[in-house]
Amino acid sequence: MIAQTYEEKRAAFLDKIEHGGKIEADDWMPDDYRQQLIKLISMHGMSEIMGALPEKEWVPKAPTLRRKLAIMAKVQDEMGHGQLLLRVAEDLLAPLGKNREDLLEDLFTGRLKFHNVFHMEAPTWADAGVIGWLVDGAAIITQTMSLDTSYAPYARALYRICAEEKFHAQHGESIVLALAEGTPEQRAMLQESVTRWWPALLMFFGPPEDGKISSNQQQNMAYKIRSQTNEELRQAFFDKYVQRIFHLGLTLPDPTIRYDKTEGKWHYQQPDWNEFKQIVTGHGPCSVSRLDLRKLSYQQAQWVRDALLNNTQQAI
Ligand SMILES: [Fe+2]
Ligand SMILES: [Fe+2]
Repeated sequence: MIAQTYEEKRAAFLDKIEHGGKIEADDWMPDDYRQQLIKLISMHGMSEIMGALPEKEWVPKAPTLRRKLAIMAKVQDEMGHGQLLLRVAEDLLAPLGKNREDLLEDLFTGRLKFHNVFHMEAPTWADAGVIGWLVDGAAIITQTMSLDTSYAPYARALYRICAEEKFHAQHGESIVLALAEGTPEQRAMLQESVTRWWPALLMFFGPPEDGKISSNQQQNMAYKIRSQTNEELRQAFFDKYVQRIFHLGLTLPDPTIRYDKTEGKWHYQQPDWNEFKQIVTGHGPCSVSRLDLRKLSYQQAQWVRDALLNNTQQAI
């Protein structure tokens, strides 16, 4: 067998993904492809876990038993999504001598970021509805785009995750519809939640490219890890949700939002992107409290890890 140089292997790799080929965990891959995947998938996995925290607050306070069962199932699903994705990330980390502990350490020290929306407060029951309907709805748009990613283990995990996310969006929509048809107080609570969440929903997709795609996005597109830009995804979100929000008689805190038929795109007010940077770097309203809760849960489960490790060692 002829030994190949790094560049020859990289060329063969690019040719393979260019022709729709998929990469498995034990296939050869360029170092920066592995790094991009680790960054993306570990952030996605940790965001699923951190995302369970704002909603878990509503499990004991859900207004009916049916709602309690539904939101409990959703929180459990989100933790499951996190586990699935961290497994995928672990396979990528293993050849580098790293594991899940390192990812958690990175989360606790702020090197690994989690999604902006999960740094936000969820003080009302309407938030439980808006998170399910619009935050999970936004996640479905991003994750559906990623189903045809070149990295097959991520695509397989996403296939299952997307199926469950659709239930989450329906669960959220059901809460939102009940409030929209409810008392004036319930409608006011829903409107306040939509108004408060709107900037975070715009930020969900990341800053617009303004004709200049970041090197990070460019690399992910060249490697077919993703196929659409932040702005394309945000526009798809507007296409799907803006009219639905208006049909419920709700308003958005953006009097300028409108669809331009000739240009085929939505015009809207940009959120404060400096605030976005502050939030994702751990300075959001709930960044510290959620991370503290995650740390506490990690510390409290130390005895489980120790017990399992001891048992495994004794069995060997
Ligand atoms: Fe999820
Ligand atoms: Fe979800």
